[in-house]
Amino acid sequence: MSGESPASDEPSEALSRIEQGLAALGDRFREAFAACPTEPSLRAEHAKLLGKKGDLTAVLALLRDVPATERPRAGALVNGFKAEVEREFEARLAALASAALEADLNARPFDLTLPGRLALGRGHPHPVLAVRDELLAIFRDLGFQTAPGPEIELEENNFTKLAFPPDHPATDMQDSFWIKPGVLLRTHTSNVQVREMSALAERVRAGASPRLAVVSAGAVYRRDDDLTHSPMFHQIEGFLVDERVSMAELKGVLAAFAERLYGPGTPVRFRPSYFPFVEPGAEVDVGCVFCKPNDPSRAACRVCKATGWLEIAGCGMIHPEVFRHTGLDPERVTGFAFGMGIDRVAMLRYGIPNIRLLFENDPRFLAQF
Ligand code: DAH
Repeated sequence: MSGESPASDEPSEALSRIEQGLAALGDRFREAFAACPTEPSLRAEHAKLLGKKGDLTAVLALLRDVPATERPRAGALVNGFKAEVEREFEARLAALASAALEADLNARPFDLTLPGRLALGRGHPHPVLAVRDELLAIFRDLGFQTAPGPEIELEENNFTKLAFPPDHPATDMQDSFWIKPGVLLRTHTSNVQVREMSALAERVRAGASPRLAVVSAGAVYRRDDDLTHSPMFHQIEGFLVDERVSMAELKGVLAAFAERLYGPGTPVRFRPSYFPFVEPGAEVDVGCVFCKPNDPSRAACRVCKATGWLEIAGCGMIHPEVFRHTGLDPERVTGFAFGMGIDRVAMLRYGIPNIRLLFENDPRFLAQF
């Protein structure tokens, strides 16, 4: 090697060292790439070679000593080397990907019928819906058919045709959720009376019998919110229309209902009360399910406040005004109606002290039923 001025085809020492360095790196990386079993290990090798602190950087440091005349040659060598590394890298990457795919395809097929790994417990009905279905079933046994009813209702069906006077407090903005004038979230399930009786009136006009016994259950809404009142709660409504229906039948039906729900011998009493759509109207009490009237322990009962009675429903004989508003003839038909809260029955049944627990949908609570 002739030092300062090399013959034009003899490389300088610096350039020779670069050539040797690249040749050595070349042998090494080809072997390393081929030995990489996975994509991440291949990428690691690639970085080890070309990264900032990689093996190539040490070789590039020699470029400083290469004479200016040889710089283009040195640059071409380095660029050629890098290009080759990239080619081999891509080729090995593709080979690994197709090997992985091949292995996947040759593996045991995925069994779609295997059960999932997440052990999801079996669900069950919400306590309110379980009680609702139980109440509906009792009335179905007593001969009532079920009917649906909308939760968004016309003022007409929720109030007017049920003979609420226009200034009744329940119609107030403070008490009901109005959607727009004339339309609100129903405040009770009594809207179903209006709908079903209006449909019955049509059939009667066409010659059908005026006999109809219906129950309907669902959500109702009022601006109320405390331990025993929720803005959304549930009611079940029932009514029976026919020629010559008497209040004795109303009492008979509700007494039979109470016995089926709370057991034979459950005492029932009616207290006179007022609802615009019935006359006479009454509130229905059953013997407290925790103590019972005349029970010596009842003085301490907090559920019935030591009265021995629990109020469960409102009821009465359908007001002639309601018959007129729905197109039925009050001279020909009579009927009774009742409405009761479902949530309260569920709370008593399961000893739930706060109605809000029912609607927060906390699985730690709901899983207990
Ligand atoms: N709709 C009444 C309420 O929400 C309950 C009620 C009372 C329903 C008497 C009736 C009835 O059908 O006859 O408080």
